[in-house]
Amino acid sequence: MIKKCKFYMNMIYKIMKKEVVDVADYKASYNDVASTYECWVEKMGKFTDYIIKPQYVCEKINNKNEPIKVLDFACGTGYISRKLLLSSVPCEITAVDLSDKMLEVCNDLSLQGVDLINMDGMTFLENTSEQFDMILCGWALPYFSHNKLLNNFGKVLKKDGVIGIIANSKGTLDEMERIFLKVMETNPQEVNKPMNIAFNLPNGEKGLKQWFEKQGFYPLELYEGERVFSFDTGEALLDWLNQTGVMAGTKMIFKDYDKVKGQLIEEIKKLKYDNGKYNINHKFVYGIFTQGGQHEHN
Ligand SMILES: C[S@@+](CC[C@H](N)C(=O)[O-])C[C@H]1O[C@@H](n2cnc3c(N)ncnc32)[C@H](O)[C@@H]1O
Repeated sequence: MIKKCKFYMNMIYKIMKKEVVDVADYKASYNDVASTYECWVEKMGKFTDYIIKPQYVCEKINNKNEPIKVLDFACGTGYISRKLLLSSVPCEITAVDLSDKMLEVCNDLSLQGVDLINMDGMTFLENTSEQFDMILCGWALPYFSHNKLLNNFGKVLKKDGVIGIIANSKGTLDEMERIFLKVMETNPQEVNKPMNIAFNLPNGEKGLKQWFEKQGFYPLELYEGERVFSFDTGEALLDWLNQTGVMAGTKMIFKDYDKVKGQLIEEIKKLKYDNGKYNINHKFVYGIFTQGGQHEHN
């Protein structure tokens, strides 16, 4: 019990001192994930499609058939930009991402005129003089402090512009936090720094709506969903988590991830086994928002 208290006091101390998994760690993680990230896009891209609706901008502000200016924020390997280029709405796209390796997969987009920017997203928002008709942000919200992010989105969005966002939400990756904490607790000497990403997961539709309304945005569409993936082994489940980037940064919690990997798999085997399979859920929420007066959403 005393050991446990000491461990948690130490973690709180590190969080207060901001000795936590940080931007540089996420960059390194996504550089590692770049060659395997496609497996996420293949299975979850159909949900990302829910937010790729440049038609909203045409209806609201652009009926002159001029290209609309879109910011693909934390664009990764460019799934959203690629879809935008296929849409019937002409788009002028700026795509920003922290990871140079993820952006290398976007070379085809650069040839089609997409402006690729390798930079921390927040730094970009704080320094750009551009204004956008639409901001799209796929699966990256938890890497940012949401209040600051949405406030900065507001500053670079044109009047009546539209934001589309899809993100993991509270309750995603059920039990994984418990599994990591158990392994951290039993190997305190192996813990390098904790991770505090859970604070930035919205609480479903209601939570996302509250975050946006606080910054003066109202929903045009709002939806929450869940997908469960099943694997034959605990090892395969952990591989999926690492290859898709959904656990980006978690390796940096430990001084030597390979030393604790076996124990992580053991805990996965104990807590994630059900009916001959190892299951993991991805809970998510998406919304399309605009500034100004109250709107009805469907
Ligand atoms: C899960 S991927 C999503 C990629 C893409 N939006 C999609 O829908 O497939 C998350 C992306 O966020 C990027 N990211 C994380 N932190 C960032 C930051 N501070 N600034 C810019 N990009 C960041 C990562 O490099 C990664 O490419």
